[in-house]
Amino acid sequence: MPDAVRIAVLASGGGSNFQALVDRFQPADVPDREIVGVIASREGAGVLERARRAGVASAVSPPSATGDEMEMFLRRTLDEWRSDLVVLAGYMKLVPETVVRAWWGRILNIHPALLPSFGGRGMYGARVHRAVIEAGVRVTGATVHFVDEAYDRGPILCQWPVPVLAGDTPESVAARVLTVEHRILPAAVEALASGAVRLDADRRVRWVREWFDTETFTNREG
Ligand code: GAR
Repeated sequence: MPDAVRIAVLASGGGSNFQALVDRFQPADVPDREIVGVIASREGAGVLERARRAGVASAVSPPSATGDEMEMFLRRTLDEWRSDLVVLAGYMKLVPETVVRAWWGRILNIHPALLPSFGGRGMYGARVHRAVIEAGVRVTGATVHFVDEAYDRGPILCQWPVPVLAGDTPESVAARVLTVEHRILPAAVEALASGAVRLDADRRVRWVREWFDTETFTNREG
């Protein structure tokens, strides 16, 4: 049997998306995928407690690292874990360019809106949902995309819409979007890990197999 696909996670917050990945890939009946570790961008991030409970290795990035130190820390840690794929699950920092290049086509990010709307520098967490409400749009959603050198800009792998309802608050929109994130992120990671989708040199997303069932987010062949 081939080795398991080794998945590393980068996160900054409570880690509910990290938990969704653990729930999907850690069970013993999924031996060909492994969550090898989580890097938190700050001490005290809730994701660290989730990692401890799940028995997943963790590391915290140095608080006042320069760009070079940060890049070295990320590369060293991801290399140490022999990470095949890297998943940004609520990660609020820009990934250094050399790391993006080293894992090109193998880094995914989840964003809580329908990119390219409501993304970019400073657009994270509640700020995204507040901007959505202020703009008066009736539909928002979640996006999983390949990471490139800019915030929230890389080629889109999948999206799913979520309605914005009368009387919604940033918190109520966030909760509705999160339930969708917890479904599409593991599905997108599985699509990449299984080779059903890939990023080509021309930056285009190629579905190699029609694997992704957008109704149920399950494997049609399974
Ligand atoms: C998620 O909604 C994720 O999409 C968002 O942060 C939240 C993290 O929640 N990411 C961004 O805004 C990135 N631009 P979690 O810690 O419970 O997974």
